[in-house]
Amino acid sequence: MPADKTMADRIPVRNPNEISKLRKAGEVSARILMELQSIIRPGITTKEIDDYAAELFRREKCGNAFFGYAGYPGQLCISVNEEVVHGIGGPRVLRDGDIVSLDAGAIVDGWYGDNALTVGVGEHVSVEARRLMAVTEEALFRGIEQAKQGNSLMDVCGAIEDYVRPFGFGIVRDFVGHGVGRHLHEEPQIPNYRPNYPLPRLKRGMILAIEPMITLGSYRVRVLEDDWTTITADGSWSAHFEHTVAVGSRGGEILTERPRIALPEQLGITM
Ligand code: MF3
Ligand code: CO
Repeated sequence: MPADKTMADRIPVRNPNEISKLRKAGEVSARILMELQSIIRPGITTKEIDDYAAELFRREKCGNAFFGYAGYPGQLCISVNEEVVHGIGGPRVLRDGDIVSLDAGAIVDGWYGDNALTVGVGEHVSVEARRLMAVTEEALFRGIEQAKQGNSLMDVCGAIEDYVRPFGFGIVRDFVGHGVGRHLHEEPQIPNYRPNYPLPRLKRGMILAIEPMITLGSYRVRVLEDDWTTITADGSWSAHFEHTVAVGSRGGEILTERPRIALPEQLGITM
């Protein structure tokens, strides 16, 4: 690689044929995620969700982007309440009123998809937790809107930060979004805030996994003894939404399309 190769040159640009393959991986990733969302109910253990995911990956005859990645032991990440990301399926039982984040990725013909969502469990999810979920999902869409040719990646990061900041929620800094394509993680890194270093200009065909992780309290997190499960430092609850998108001429083109969970307006949030 020439020494003067710039940051933007290290970000792969995919052609329409490659994007159609990424869309297939994205569609499978979304289908698996939505199917997992449909079985969430009070009383289920996170191990049961993981086991069902194993069955879905078999049924789809696709690869699993997470299982075995850096030794990750789960089929997907299942993160409950104060868990922010990378929760591993186990004996924890979901209770009415909890919120749970599901994060899953499929590999189809060597192309990767990555997506995540957070849902409430049962009928008694607090208004505060529902606000957190709606704001986090809307933050993702504010970022996606800015994922257009000619913008700076800073516009994506800044749109997420600017939308979330007025709510007073914590914006997780230790984990970020990422490029995705032939690997789960490619260039660039995508913070959910404006970093203090320059970011590249976006070109049509760059593939971004945008994934705001937002908390009701502090942005600080810590990793548990299992080396994966990441929880908020102050025990506050956290939400996480993610889509894989292709940078387009009018905004990010979502490759992991699924229905939205909640619109902020439905909760009377107008910001
Ligand atoms: N969506 C997460 C990410 O992009 C999930 C990765 S979990 C891992 O990093 F187990 F695969 F590392
Ligand atoms: Co990701």
